Amino acid sequence: MTRTADRMQFIQPFHVMALLARARELEAAGRSIIHMEIGEPDFITPQPVIDAGIRALEQGQTHYTPATGLPALRERIAAFYRQRYAVELDPQRVIVTPGASAALQLVMAALVNPGDRVLMADPGYPCNRNFVYLVNGEPVGIPVDAACGYQPTPQQVEELWTGDVAALLVASPSNPTGTVLPEEDLRALHAIAARHGGSLVVDEIYHGLTYGDPIATALAVSDDIFVINSFSKYFGMTGWRLGWLIAPSAVVPDIDKLAQNLFLAAPTLAQHAALQAFEADNLAILEERCAAFRERRDYLLPALRELGFEIPVTPEGAFYLYADCSRFTADSHAFSTRLLEEAGVAITPGVDFGNHQPERHVRFAYTTSMENLREGVRRLAAYLCE
Ligand SMILES: Cc1ncc(COP(=O)(O)O)c(C=O)c1O
Repeated sequence: MTRTADRMQFIQPFHVMALLARARELEAAGRSIIHMEIGEPDFITPQPVIDAGIRALEQGQTHYTPATGLPALRERIAAFYRQRYAVELDPQRVIVTPGASAALQLVMAALVNPGDRVLMADPGYPCNRNFVYLVNGEPVGIPVDAACGYQPTPQQVEELWTGDVAALLVASPSNPTGTVLPEEDLRALHAIAARHGGSLVVDEIYHGLTYGDPIATALAVSDDIFVINSFSKYFGMTGWRLGWLIAPSAVVPDIDKLAQNLFLAAPTLAQHAALQAFEADNLAILEERCAAFRERRDYLLPALRELGFEIPVTPEGAFYLYADCSRFTADSHAFSTRLLEEAGVAITPGVDFGNHQPERHVRFAYTTSMENLREGVRRLAAYLCE
């Protein structure tokens, strides 16, 4: 038998994948399923970016780029921070990556020694703990709930920050809760990390998809925060596999070295296409889509509350609602399976997001049309009120 590494025992698959596979099976057998489990926009990439991708392919843009990305794209990303956030950024600090996923791996590889701990919210994005395992670190979940807006508080972080903590990783807006870290908390968290000689890593992948006042980037707080973003969500480019990392200047040579070795470069075609992503015509399409997500949230949130799901904090961003389903079940995983089989509605059980009360939570993604959301709510109502 093949001997695999010890870390493999810690790395969990997404439970929702089994659910998705079952949903596809049911659909193949003729059942209609409303998908509210999928963590990517239902819209395809806007046409201006697709056209730019086709042009790049026709022009033979099929070779590697520098490991840190096309210089023009790094400059364009830096200019975007000036335009959108009024933050001045040296393009040399922008590293273009194969998705936020690769950016997270680069940061962990650059910061974490074997045995070091990395603090992160629980519930949180499931891959984060696995990126830490990959570099033989120890992920430490910070239990977060409604009282703290599902984001780690400075007090929690201060209490957990011992000598072997290398970094705190937060996401704002968060997956699965859609909640945003207030700027003053970002400042306080950064101050704690700095005082302990560690790093703050802020995943801003859901920036752009926010439905209240504009939110600040962590780069406005300090130049020594690692900021991660991606073309996947707001820009609607999941399958192009493109993201970026803004690193403190002193660490850029290390990140460059790692990127050369781990990935060589992000996909060339995607980088050329992404140059178009910041143009006014494309941004106008993205803003329309953002408004569509907001409309969906504004419909689904009260509808789920009405049905008896508890969603105590109104999420300000992303496209998720993290709901307490304890009124219906003590086992959210079994509940999700039953909803799929008996009501034809697919959602994600809490277990995919961590260990803090997963059995009483499920995540609804509003990455489907208003019509589908209405039908989903009808099915839920019929099933739960039977
Ligand atoms: C919080 C968060 N970070 C990172 C990622 C990875 O995204 P990508 O690699 O497509 O940029 C996701 C994807 O769902 C996410 O939700």
